[in-house]
Amino acid sequence: MADIARIESREDALALLAVALKHEWAVSLEYLIHAYSMPKGRYLYDDPVVSARLDIRGQTIQIGIDEMYHALQMGYVIRQLGGEPSFEVDEVVRHPRIADNLVRDKKTEDLVTGLYQKPKYKDLFLPEVENMFWNISYDEVRHSRQFAAMIDALRDSPDADARCLQPDPKAEEREEVALLHDITRAENELMHRYLYYVLLFHEHQDLGAGCSRTRWTTCATGTRTRASSSSSAA
Ligand SMILES: [Fe+2]
Ligand SMILES: [Fe+2]
Repeated sequence: MADIARIESREDALALLAVALKHEWAVSLEYLIHAYSMPKGRYLYDDPVVSARLDIRGQTIQIGIDEMYHALQMGYVIRQLGGEPSFEVDEVVRHPRIADNLVRDKKTEDLVTGLYQKPKYKDLFLPEVENMFWNISYDEVRHSRQFAAMIDALRDSPDADARCLQPDPKAEEREEVALLHDITRAENELMHRYLYYVLLFHEHQDLGAGCSRTRWTTCATGTRTRASSSSSAA
């Protein structure tokens, strides 16, 4: 992961955001893959953040959703700075053992916390970007503590060497599974298009954007038109 120590220009901020966004897209996917590689409700742990006994699988999905919000927030900021948000992703890894995936997830959280907390900003340059990275970094600290608790619980259990769910080769021969693959690919394509336009037109309400903004509507023919200015969030 890139080592960015100083933010002195818009280009520095965009460079940090580009590295961070690649990471956030990757973990959004990776945590879901790790979560869906486990059976539901089988592996439980005591969560140190919410003080409850939780399902490792379910909480890994929740953390993945946090990462999606991080990615979206970064996309907005990149757009506000005049950059182009990318859907490029860092490497996504799945180990055969569940415990090894959790260890990787914790390491990733610690690494990215360092990336987000390390840069020094010149003379209060882009305070909204600095604040965003500090806020997100505290989510990453929380995620790291949660993954650490999951790892401890699994290591101390008879499931310490449990392996990820494996695909059934026979399933690929079933018509409904082929259909499911087609639907998933179409959904993926649609989601990319949707996110592209969300990032193009959305002004993030938490980052000091002006009150007056253009509202866009889509008419029956699918054409996007400029409707009016509105003081409410898009
Ligand atoms: Fe994140
Ligand atoms: Fe995280």
